[in-house]
Amino acid sequence: IPVDPFDYVVFGATGDLSQRKLIPALYYRFYDGQFDTNSRIIGVSRTEMSDEEFQKFARDAVTEFVDADHIEQQMLDDFIGCFSYIANDVTDREGWAELSDSLRNDPEVVRAFYLAVAPFLFAPICDYLSSQNYWTPDARVVLEKPLGRDLQSSIEINDTVAEVFREDQVYRIDHYLGKETVQNLLALRFANALFEPIWNSAHIDHIQITAAESVGAGGRSYYEKSGALRDMVQNHLLQLLCLVAMEPPASDEANALRDEKLKVLRALKRIEGDDVHKNTVRGQYRGVSSEDTKVPGYLEELGEGATSNTETFVAIKAEVENWRWNGVPFYMRTGKRMARRASEIVIQFREIPHSIFSRTQGAPTPNQLVIRLQPDEGVKLFLMIKDPGPGGMRLRQVPLNLSFADTFTQRTPEAYERLLMDVVRGNQTLFMRRDELEAAWAWIDPIREAWDTDATPLHGYTAGTWGPTSSVALIERDGRTWHEEL
Ligand code: BG6
Repeated sequence: IPVDPFDYVVFGATGDLSQRKLIPALYYRFYDGQFDTNSRIIGVSRTEMSDEEFQKFARDAVTEFVDADHIEQQMLDDFIGCFSYIANDVTDREGWAELSDSLRNDPEVVRAFYLAVAPFLFAPICDYLSSQNYWTPDARVVLEKPLGRDLQSSIEINDTVAEVFREDQVYRIDHYLGKETVQNLLALRFANALFEPIWNSAHIDHIQITAAESVGAGGRSYYEKSGALRDMVQNHLLQLLCLVAMEPPASDEANALRDEKLKVLRALKRIEGDDVHKNTVRGQYRGVSSEDTKVPGYLEELGEGATSNTETFVAIKAEVENWRWNGVPFYMRTGKRMARRASEIVIQFREIPHSIFSRTQGAPTPNQLVIRLQPDEGVKLFLMIKDPGPGGMRLRQVPLNLSFADTFTQRTPEAYERLLMDVVRGNQTLFMRRDELEAAWAWIDPIREAWDTDATPLHGYTAGTWGPTSSVALIERDGRTWHEEL
């Protein structure tokens, strides 16, 4: 469905995010006819560049990051025609260039400011937008992470933005919410009658959420200051937990959904004091150097002689203290340089109350629902069946397997495609509201503080493994194991 024409002003337009994600995502939406040459993308960044140079940057980004079979020359030329550029050092108020020639004063044209810059630049940008009358009651502002380092700094960021933009104009990106398979959680839970009656502590033993990456941190200074807890848990993993744990919202209206997610965040049991040591594990990858494999460790990537207390792996046992989830642990883990890139949610159901089968026939293994977020998107429901054959009753566990690749022919869109267009449509459902963000930080802060002050060890783990052994101990201590099929 085509969206209204727009003027998208992208601050930080020559950065990595813009090159790898935003421009390719916009191209796919253009390719599918969701917008046309009536829309404009105005890049703003410090680098001096002409329109033509920025257009070349955008063209290169498409060529490099869009599937070749989606690139058509005429289409690409038309798309690139939407791009223009303004060089601006946003910290230098005097030197601000004019955006007014690029922005259209037409109520039919949606105006969006995308802030793909460090948060300390949000204040000068917002200030500038309002002082120059670029703000309109219907303009939207899109904020990229990191949205703070802790609760206090996130409040400051939100306050700064709130001086200019109303909450219903603010779109805080958590790109996990734009992933097809993450949205599919909503369909799975709330468009099927099957799961909801058993989606509670009476039937579910525990839940696992894993977001494993095979890539390293690559010596990025942002990562060194952030670490896995801030980079992945505070946002992506907690959002996944919310979608799994929340009560059914009354509708799919943005605030109905966000109210339910907020309740989950507020019901998360605070992990503090001794519990931090007991319920969290932090690790940092070490390099591998053998004849056939050579992978640098985190410290080596930072540079010779570097020291660092930054975690590249986190495992946490969390609990949601409410009626539905009483006593059901949520085990979360995420890390860089793990054995494989694999993100999934595992719903582990309880054992059957009584088995009518003898031990020789096999013990029924509890059912398991595995929601595979990426790659190989799909859903597997592990069931017990009779092993076929004349040899009598033998039980066997098999998956009912829904593979997206086998079931659907269409390409799975990238998260940013959906999110960028939702901004134009004015749909905030898949964006974090201020109170959600702050509730997430409020839960993360005591963990972070305990790590900073006490001796929660930073375990080394070998690159290409599933993290430190203490992560295995975290779950095995409770008589459970991490799902292995990853
Ligand atoms: C980002 C993190 O938010 O998510 C990165 O800053 C991480 O460190 C990335 O690599 C993972 O996203 P995806 O979509 O590849 O799972």
